[in-house]
Amino acid sequence: MKAENVKGNNLLDMINKLFVKVPFVRDGVLVRTDKANNANQCHTNDAFSEKWLAKNQESDDKDEAWKQFQKDWYLKLYGYQSEVKLAKDLQSYRVILDAGCGLGYKAAWFANLAPESLVIAIDFSDAIFQAAHRYQNFSNMIFVKGDIADTGLHDGVIDLISCDQVLHHTESPLLTLMEFARISSEQGKLNTYVYAKKALPRELLDDYFRKASKNMTHEQIWEMSQQLTQLGKNLSELQITFDVPDIPALGIKGGQQDLQRFFYWNFLKCFWNEKMGLDASVSTNFDWYAPSIAFRYDKKKFLDMCQQANWQNEFLHSEKACWSGRFTKSYHGG
Ligand SMILES: C[S@@+](CC[C@H](N)C(=O)[O-])C[C@H]1O[C@@H](n2cnc3c(N)ncnc32)[C@H](O)[C@@H]1O
Repeated sequence: MKAENVKGNNLLDMINKLFVKVPFVRDGVLVRTDKANNANQCHTNDAFSEKWLAKNQESDDKDEAWKQFQKDWYLKLYGYQSEVKLAKDLQSYRVILDAGCGLGYKAAWFANLAPESLVIAIDFSDAIFQAAHRYQNFSNMIFVKGDIADTGLHDGVIDLISCDQVLHHTESPLLTLMEFARISSEQGKLNTYVYAKKALPRELLDDYFRKASKNMTHEQIWEMSQQLTQLGKNLSELQITFDVPDIPALGIKGGQQDLQRFFYWNFLKCFWNEKMGLDASVSTNFDWYAPSIAFRYDKKKFLDMCQQANWQNEFLHSEKACWSGRFTKSYHGG
């Protein structure tokens, strides 16, 4: 670990002040917890280690296109009108936590946009070692392996937590949000996202598959993901649009719909996106079926859960796939 300076502060001094007990360092990563003690979280971590390892082997061009897609989506999910607006927001925080950073490209994006802020990138999967290696030259980033629901950080030390596409993969999203509230400063901010509930047939099938995939090897899940991608591609190439009746009892919404989208949202995840290409589409299907933990929410459940953990909603965005929003820690002044 280098003793660089972030806004006039020595990085090692900052680390000492952030953690209750400073974790040991392995390959540039502060290892807070190496292995989950819960079987489902262990399985989820393995699934992501596998996914990120495969992603890391993609060509730079594909990687850049995917990262750009994700960055543009991030702005939309959290209501930033432009990257400049995001940068302005980030620059107002001293310490930013990217909770569940995967390969760390969003944490690096934040670190670039806010060079005087410290960005902590944390993930429970082995992807964190790849992140630390990729971004080793950033003097305002640190990398932590561990559970975002048990960070080992002091109370009130983080100004912004970005937990993008992660919360629903934690063993107890409520406890994770409570940990976020604990480590956040007064009036601390949170950007977070959860999967939305889909139509009933798709929910039932997803639950069934997610249990079944626990007994499959990663090779088998990759193979299934390729088959599902092919199915999505074939359906999409038919270019059939038809009129769907409303079926409220099953949560199926009516209207003119494309056959592949109708099938996708109501029955079976068979992701295909021509712009993202084959590898990213297969990886998206793998990402859906491989992790054991993937909770889904309706609007009320999502907002109630955040409120229960003392997070007040300031901005809410919804898509068929998800709920996302910006939150401020509620202040209970005495
Ligand atoms: C779908 S990926 C999202 C990664 C990144 N935030 C992004 O937007 O590209 C979910 C990530 O959350 C991580 N994760 C899941 N549960 C976690 C936990 N309890 N603690 C830390 N990381 C966790 C996984 O290892 C995985 O890298």
